[in-house]
Amino acid sequence: MAFLKTGFLQRLSNSKKEQEKEAGDSHESAFCMRYDIHSHILPGVDDGAKDLHMAVDMVRQAYGEGIRQIVATPHYTPGKQNSSVKTLQERLTMLQAAVADEFSDLKIYLGNEIFYSPSVIDGLDAGEIMMMPEGVAGMMDHTVLIEFAPGEAYSLIYDAVKRLTLYGYIPILAHVERYREIEAQNGYQELKEAGAQFQINAAGLKNGYQAQFTKTARKLIRDGRADYLGTDAHNTDNRKADTKEMTEYICKVCSAQYRDRLLCGPIQTF
Ligand SMILES: [Fe+2]
Repeated sequence: MAFLKTGFLQRLSNSKKEQEKEAGDSHESAFCMRYDIHSHILPGVDDGAKDLHMAVDMVRQAYGEGIRQIVATPHYTPGKQNSSVKTLQERLTMLQAAVADEFSDLKIYLGNEIFYSPSVIDGLDAGEIMMMPEGVAGMMDHTVLIEFAPGEAYSLIYDAVKRLTLYGYIPILAHVERYREIEAQNGYQELKEAGAQFQINAAGLKNGYQAQFTKTARKLIRDGRADYLGTDAHNTDNRKADTKEMTEYICKVCSAQYRDRLLCGPIQTF
């Protein structure tokens, strides 16, 4: 156990040194978000990147923010036309090939952002919906990124978490700061105890797009309840990867250990 702890701390220490080295004189802060577990970066599969050209530009932006691992999470919505896993994997390969020379130290993985309905469990069991990649940012096997309608009832969200965990999945609630009923019912702790994990959108901490969620997102971070960060990038314009304010806020209010966990993940592989 002591060995594991030493190794973990050493990895964090190395990551910080590397970040400081990479930051040089060009950044105000030596810290940046190293992974993004929520991005609509795959070309032509949802309302994210329109084509390969835009997808490459999105990669360029994310890389410029310091991100080195991206999980592409195209929408999966039950009852709608969804791209097959085969198509998603083909687009992933296409994007990886397009950026391999320019960004040799960047990794892109595949997942799905799954709009919850009880039927998605059958789709997951059948391999028709993607789970999140094990190990990236410390995510465990059978982790799934789940979203709801912003005004969804708390009872449904709670039931979804209970049901998913019952079937062996670990639900990460995508952009958890958006769900007003969780806040209204003060349900964060109960959801955590039921097995949920929370992802915060980087844009949720900005005072522009999604400004109404800033207060909630900041409180979740101050309370130590956020587990993962994501850009939820959809394009290179009004919904792009933009992590500076969020990173600065985390550096300001979080302990060094929590800051490193949020920005670098508990398993550092860079
Ligand atoms: Fe999303």
